[in-house]
Amino acid sequence: MTIHKEEKIWAGIVAAMVVVFLAALAYAAWVIGLQVPGGDVQMVNPQRALEELKPGVREVAPGKYEVTLIGKMWSWFPNKIVLKDPVEVKFRLTSVDVIHGFQIVGTNVNVMVFPGYVAEITWRVPPNAKGTYLMICNEYCGAGHQNMYGYVIIER
Ligand code: CUA
Repeated sequence: MTIHKEEKIWAGIVAAMVVVFLAALAYAAWVIGLQVPGGDVQMVNPQRALEELKPGVREVAPGKYEVTLIGKMWSWFPNKIVLKDPVEVKFRLTSVDVIHGFQIVGTNVNVMVFPGYVAEITWRVPPNAKGTYLMICNEYCGAGHQNMYGYVIIER
C-alpha cells in the first residue's frame, strides 16, 4: 500500500494542529492557574451560613460599607439595604441552597453566588448614584426565581 504525497502533507498538517492546540491549552491552563485565587477563598457550611456570616450592613469607615447577603430560595437576606453617602461597598455573598446570581441593575455589580463559598464584589459607588436600585437574582434557581429581588437605597 502506498501513501500518497497529499495524504502525508495532510497528516503533517493535522499533527501540527494537534501540537498547536495542546500548546494553547497548556498556555491557557498556565495563565488561568496564575489567576485562580489561592487559599484566601472563604468557605462556609451552607447550613450554618446564616449564623456564621451575620447578614447585614456594616459601615467599616466613613462611606465604606461591608454588606453581607445570603441567597435563599427565593429571596436575598436582607432584601432592603440602606446606605448613607456610600463611596465603596464590599458585598460578601453566599447561598444556603442552590446557585444564585447577584446583580444590581444599572451597575457593574454582578456575581454568581455558590453554596459553600463566599463571593466578594466591590462596588465603587459613583458620586451621582442616588435613589433606589433594584437587586435581582439573574441565575434561574427554581419556581420562585422571578420573586428573588430586593432594593439598595442610596441616600445623599
Ligand atoms: Cu435565585 Cu434565581
